[in-house]
Amino acid sequence: KGGYEHFMMKEIYEQPRAVRDTVNAVLKNGRIDLSDAGLDEKTIRSIGRIYIVACGSAYHAGVAMQYVMEELARIPVRVELASEFRYRNPILDPEGLVVIVSQSGETADSLAALREAKQRGIRTLGIVNVVGSSIAREADNVFYTLAGPEISVATTKAYSTQLIASYALAVQFGKVREQITEEKYQELIAELKTLPDKIAKIIEDDKERIQWFAAKQANARDAFFIGRGIDYAISMEGSLKMKEISYIHSEAYAAGELKHGTISLIEDGILVVSVLTQKELYEKMISNMVEVKCRGAYLVAVTMAGNYKVEDTVNFALYIPETEECFTPSLA
Ligand code: BG6
Repeated sequence: KGGYEHFMMKEIYEQPRAVRDTVNAVLKNGRIDLSDAGLDEKTIRSIGRIYIVACGSAYHAGVAMQYVMEELARIPVRVELASEFRYRNPILDPEGLVVIVSQSGETADSLAALREAKQRGIRTLGIVNVVGSSIAREADNVFYTLAGPEISVATTKAYSTQLIASYALAVQFGKVREQITEEKYQELIAELKTLPDKIAKIIEDDKERIQWFAAKQANARDAFFIGRGIDYAISMEGSLKMKEISYIHSEAYAAGELKHGTISLIEDGILVVSVLTQKELYEKMISNMVEVKCRGAYLVAVTMAGNYKVEDTVNFALYIPETEECFTPSLA
């Protein structure tokens, strides 16, 4: 365990290294090169639609990828749980690309979904961490995340590298499909390279405050993670981690949807973690946060450094360094 109390802690600390390795592997001469993943420029141009299929945290990385890919490359993306996809007789565009995301490359539903897609003659890409795993062997092409062995069942560093794979694909698709300029492309690549250091800084700088906060909230009974847009994708992963590791009941909600029934569950002391990293959605988020605060929630914000005014609304705030809006999942 490398001196850590348990593997999950070790793997949390390995995130900067895992992310750096995955970023470096996809860059050649200052540009993104997806030829190892079978995605040369001609192929990228020919793809009409993307289907992302996965389970658990890999699915959450897929939800983030959907937002980033549609935003940067303007290509329609559908993201789906493998356990649903495999049994629902999906209608697939023959020009489509099915992307299976899996740390282990062995998750039964994800593997079955891959086989289903292949049987229908659709091009498949595995985003996989374990070399030689079933999904890596059977997919037409593979994008290897370089997280290294992940022992903890609850993923941390592999999820972080899946996000990097998502950004690399989205940025390259955006460039090749002429949705982003050369200047923007270079900016995004430069920012991608800064992520490992930013992740390291968050882990180091915020460690004590997070430990203090966790100790204070350890008896929480229920938690909600809320966000809009890509922050909803982050909320899903935050919520899964919370329940899987602490056994505290937790739900992720699209912040704007909370009022349609579920807000009745928010009462005194319920922990609500709000993720707000997107400028355009900031005010909308604040109004949702005020609604839950009025019902007595203990409100936490995860937001960009500089948004200090959030402290007028919340009980506790965590700040993340500035980055491209599409890359905030890696820091939040
Ligand atoms: C679950 C794990 O059982 O499997 C999750 O608890 C993981 O952490 C999910 O994301 C999917 O696994 P894989 O290996 O297909 O990414």
